[in-house]
Order: sequence, then structure tokens, then C-alpha cells
Amino acid sequence: MGKLQDQVAIITGGVSGIGAETARLFISEGAKVVVVDLNEDKGKALEKELQALHAEALFIKADITSEEEVANIFKQTVETFGKVDVVFNNAGIGAIQSTHDLDYADWRKTVNVDLDGVFLVARESIREMLKTGGGTIINTASMYGWVGSPGSAAYNAAKGGVINLTRSLALEYAEQNIRINALCPGYIDTPIIPEESKQVLAESTPLKRLGTSEEMAKAVLFLASDDSSFMTGNSLTVDGGYTAQ
Ligand SMILES: NC(=O)c1ccc[n+]([C@@H]2O[C@H](COP(=O)([O-])OP(=O)(O)OC[C@H]3O[C@@H](n4cnc5c(N)ncnc54)[C@H](O)[C@@H]3O)[C@@H](O)[C@H]2O)c1
Repeated sequence: MGKLQDQVAIITGGVSGIGAETARLFISEGAKVVVVDLNEDKGKALEKELQALHAEALFIKADITSEEEVANIFKQTVETFGKVDVVFNNAGIGAIQSTHDLDYADWRKTVNVDLDGVFLVARESIREMLKTGGGTIINTASMYGWVGSPGSAAYNAAKGGVINLTRSLALEYAEQNIRINALCPGYIDTPIIPEESKQVLAESTPLKRLGTSEEMAKAVLFLASDDSSFMTGNSLTVDGGYTAQ
């Protein structure tokens, strides 16, 4: 029996990096997985890869900043698989720009995806889980929700927001059996990190390397499964020691 046997999981930002690796691990643990992303080509390819493992998997193209599209993710998931047990609320974008040169529109774009989008997916998850008696939500924040860094004001503000959103929602829905935690990755080797920055970022990490998406997926599985049954409102930092400095 897998750790998520017969559970239905939605993964946003699910076709690349941390999300895609989590989809593969969830499938290997017995889950039925709905992968959500803007990128249709990668989404169709991953859906095929997962279905080839005789797994129940579905790709839905959606933008997490659209209320209508987020509602449709849950409608389609329930129509296909009957329920929603786990939501990995993970889609996000990076943004680097000196604050004195940061346009308000760019600030809003980052906060719109990295905080508003997380709220919209969490709200819809809660609406669905209230109908079925509970579930688990994992929001992807970042180590940059705990500490600051120059040139990423919007990203860091949004990720800090995700950490406290997680605490607030966890308290609000604890009695309804909905556990809500966050994952705070350090520097992870995914397409969100520019190739030319990878060596410097690895050097700045105490373990002297980037983390892998596989390592993040294991932490997400822990938060999604009964292994973390007494955890809610927590933000789990998996950063190679970066924030211990
Ligand atoms: N890689 C890192 O070093 C790192 C560190 C800390 C936090 N994170 C966070 O981890 C999460 C996953 O990032 P990743 O590193 O796997 O990067 P990634 O770029 O490989 O994956 C992010 C995915 O999100 C999707 N996405 C972006 N905007 C979307 C939207 N509006 N609607 C739907 N999908 C959207 C992208 O198409 C992409 O497939 C993000 O929230 C990111 O901020 C990553």
C-alpha cells in the first residue's frame, strides 16, 4: 500500500521542476494525480508519461490567477476522480529586479501569481474539502519567506505572505480536519534558477550544492501523508542549511 493509496491529489505548477517530480512520487505512492499548469505541451507529455505507468493521471491547463480557471480545476477533478484529498499549491514565478527600477505592474504580476494565486487555489481546496470531511494542503513558500535578499522584494514579500497565510488557514480549518502546511525550499536545481547563477548559489549554500526536485518531493509527500498527521500551520524549510547562517 502506498502512502497516498487511492487519494486524489492536485498539483499546480505540476509540469516542471518540483511539481513534476512530486507528481511522479505521488503516483508511485498510489495517488491519482491531476497536474495543473499553463504549459500545455509539457502538461500533455507528463500526462502521457504518467499514464504509461498505468497510473490515473490528468493534465488541466489553467492559470492559478484566474478565479474561473481555478474553480474549473476542482470541478473537472471531482467529475473525473470524485473527490480531492491532497492539494500541492505550488505554481510560482521568480522575479529579480532592483526595487528602484521595479514597475508597479511587475510587482503586481509577481504578487498576483505567488500570493493571490496561492490564496485562490487554497480557497477552492478548502471549499471542496469541507464537503468531504477534510484533506491536506501544502503551499509552496520559499526560504525567502523567512529571510530577505536584495533585488527580490516582490517575490520575498509574496513568499512571506504564503507562510502567514498558511498559519492563518491552518488555524481556521483545523477543526474541519484540513491540515495546511507550507514547504520552504532553498536553492533547488529547476528551470526557475538561471543556469549562470547555479554555481554561485550552490557555493552560498552550506551543503555546497543545489537541492534536487526529488528531495523536495519527499518533503511534500511527508506533509501530504499521515506521516505528518500532527502537523498543521507549519512551514518546513528544506534549504541545505541556508537559513541557519
Ligand atoms: N527552485 C528553487 O530554487 C525554488 C526555491 C524556493 C521556492 N521555489 C518555489 O517552488 C515552486 C515551484 O518552482 P520550481 O522551482 O519547480 O520552478 P519551475 O519553473 O520549474 O515550475 C513552476 C511551474 O509553475 C507554472 N506556473 C507559473 N505561473 C503559473 C500560473 N499562473 N498558473 C499555473 N501555472 C503556473 C510554470 O509554468 C512552471 O511549470 C514555485 O512556487 C517557486 O517559487 C523554488
